[in-house]
Amino acid sequence: MIAAYSATSQARVNAALETLFSAPSPELARLYEAMRYSVMNGGKRVRPLLAYAACEALGGKAEDANGAACAVELIHAYSLVHDDLPAMDDDDLRRGQPTTHKKFDEACAILAGDGLQSLAFSALLDPRLNAAGAEIRLQMVSALALAAGPAGMVGGQAIDLGSVGLKLDQKALEYMHRHKTGALIEASVKLGALASGRAEKDELKSLQTYAQAIGLAFQVQDDILDVESDTETLGKRQGADIARDKPTYPALLGLDAAKAYALELRDQALHALRPFDAGAEPLRELARYIVERRN
Ligand code: IPE
Ligand code: IPE
Ligand code: MG
Ligand code: MG
Ligand code: MG
Repeated sequence: MIAAYSATSQARVNAALETLFSAPSPELARLYEAMRYSVMNGGKRVRPLLAYAACEALGGKAEDANGAACAVELIHAYSLVHDDLPAMDDDDLRRGQPTTHKKFDEACAILAGDGLQSLAFSALLDPRLNAAGAEIRLQMVSALALAAGPAGMVGGQAIDLGSVGLKLDQKALEYMHRHKTGALIEASVKLGALASGRAEKDELKSLQTYAQAIGLAFQVQDDILDVESDTETLGKRQGADIARDKPTYPALLGLDAAKAYALELRDQALHALRPFDAGAEPLRELARYIVERRN
């Protein structure tokens, strides 16, 4: 089920994303090429899948969430371009290809990331991608700004970079993970739900509980894969966290306890979906996938 759902959803979001990278003038060709390179280079598209699945869980059509799906993936892609820079994690490999600053140069990568961040908001406001009414679009812009910004992902990245070589306790590690990764995953579900045009308050609350659990689980699994996967499968360098002495769940709890914690978070997420019918099956499958994935 998840394989077919993923393939269809990836094709849908990729087609929508492709519409966003034509340079308005020849002078900007390289910048647009770098932005396109950073987005159209594979990637599991987990955040777009979550947006589509949340929209469908509430009875919306997946296409209604195209703007949401593009927006969250564009923010994610920008965050990866910047995360890989020498000033941050200093990585050379991403999605099996040279990182953007290696393929282009650092200034170009910084600007490509900046550009992708703005494009994300443009995607939400693009009538070809988002047909929601003005009030809903405003809620979407506001949720994405909060999740991506200093009180969300950027804040988490700041804590991450400030914690290298330090011993964080579990509360501090959880706070960091919920911000650097959880916030955008939570926004992916929320934006998808809003795009359905049918989101009731109690449904949004249940979906938020689901999203918070899988958002944390996603980064716990990312930390686990850094320990036990391999560079070829990951498409990014295995062991990078260990090499840089990053605070991670396996480093704090040990590998087995980190795995058990990821499964516990998956169960919390599934529990939050109890009020939903079979329409939420893709969301359930995604919760399972997030802790079982190998890359
Ligand atoms: C990697 O995200 C960075 C984190 C936030 C953990 P993904 O594992 O979703 O990376 P792609 O998009 O599939 O490359
Ligand atoms: C990345 O976390 C989180 C964001 C980019 C916001 P990581 O640094 O663990 O991601 P990878 O492992 O490089 O993909
Ligand atoms: Mg990082
Ligand atoms: Mg990194
Ligand atoms: Mg990582």
